[in-house]
Amino acid sequence: MEQEMTSQEIFDLYGRCVIPNYARFQVAIVRAEGSRMWDADGKCYLDLFPGWGCSLLGYCHPRVVEAIRQQAGKLIHIDNLFFTEEGARLGELIHRHGFGGQSFFCNSGAEANEAAIKLARRHAGRGRYKIITMERSFHGRTYGAMSATAQSKTHAGHEPLVPGFVYVPFNDLDAVEKAIGDETAAIMLEPIQGEGGVRIPDEGYLPALRELCDEHHLLLILDEVQTGCGRTGTWFGYQHYPIEPDIMTLAKALGGGAPIGAMVAQPEVAASLKPGAHASTYGANPLVVAAAIAMFEAVEQESLLEAAKRKSAYILEKAGELQRQFGIVEEVRGRGLMIAIELSVPGKPIVNAAMQRGLRINCTQDTVLRLLPALTITTAEIDEAFEVLTEAMKEAEGKLVTT
Ligand SMILES: Cc1ncc(COP(=O)(O)O)c(C=O)c1O
Repeated sequence: MEQEMTSQEIFDLYGRCVIPNYARFQVAIVRAEGSRMWDADGKCYLDLFPGWGCSLLGYCHPRVVEAIRQQAGKLIHIDNLFFTEEGARLGELIHRHGFGGQSFFCNSGAEANEAAIKLARRHAGRGRYKIITMERSFHGRTYGAMSATAQSKTHAGHEPLVPGFVYVPFNDLDAVEKAIGDETAAIMLEPIQGEGGVRIPDEGYLPALRELCDEHHLLLILDEVQTGCGRTGTWFGYQHYPIEPDIMTLAKALGGGAPIGAMVAQPEVAASLKPGAHASTYGANPLVVAAAIAMFEAVEQESLLEAAKRKSAYILEKAGELQRQFGIVEEVRGRGLMIAIELSVPGKPIVNAAMQRGLRINCTQDTVLRLLPALTITTAEIDEAFEVLTEAMKEAEGKLVTT
């Protein structure tokens, strides 16, 4: 499609015709490639948070573009009463790289978590319906996923919530143990809390949760929507530990930028989802499934898991330099390309100052600068990003001193 509208014309039409439920940047993007994107006025931005973690391969990765092109000429959509080669191949990739699980395909992270919640209740049987989730978690915006999310700002205005979720502090084993009762069906958490501020639990936490689940016959549900598909340097976040979940949810990076989610379950648990128990009309749509297969091929054939580890070390070193230079940096942490720079002050002014200078980053939990760069980002791009970030932080710190 030819670019016909100016940025202002785009903003004006949104103002009249699109619900303003996002705090958008005043920027209209028309094209993106790798870690760069361009707006309708031709300005280029370097993106260290591409697609809110979805564009793990960078924007418009050639393998994904080619897979979508080929698939679009062959079969865009077919309903779920038929088998497809694409569905079989994606199921096998997740099965092989994960824990031998079986997949249910849907369209987003929230939907994958809805499926996990429904499966957990069905599997546990009558009377056992409670799911323990973690404070500062994030599982999505649909009613079940939102109710699982233990953050009051996400609930505000939407109560009453779905009953049965019990919240405990993250990384606190005693709290989980105390919360387990006769009605508990599962424990659900992110291996690393993303929206919660890139919080990495203690080394023994996930293995101990696995033991608790085994002891009390509970399901361990891992929400890998943000940590999955290579983000942390392994295929899935749980693979940093000697454990397997009973259920894992995926979305974001899974489709290489195309919208797809998956709920993956151990076969004996998956067996509780009988025909008619759950469904998604567009689930396993061949166009997005082809993109997801290309995502797996890219990570595998371009050695991107190793790249994530290498680039992580480099970015953490750069972030460490920022910490030495700026008193407002309290802590730097991360695993793979999921990185946080925690500040003693709100991060929004730094996000805005960076954006002005052509660098996109994110801030979560008010004071945590979050970077989810593409696995394909280059060393030169990382250097460039940190030069801009240094300037943006100088500006923010300067304002703090003068106010
Ligand atoms: C860990 C986690 N789970 C679930 C979701 C919801 O995913 P979606 O926006 O695709 O519904 C997100 C989104 O940020 C997430 O980070």
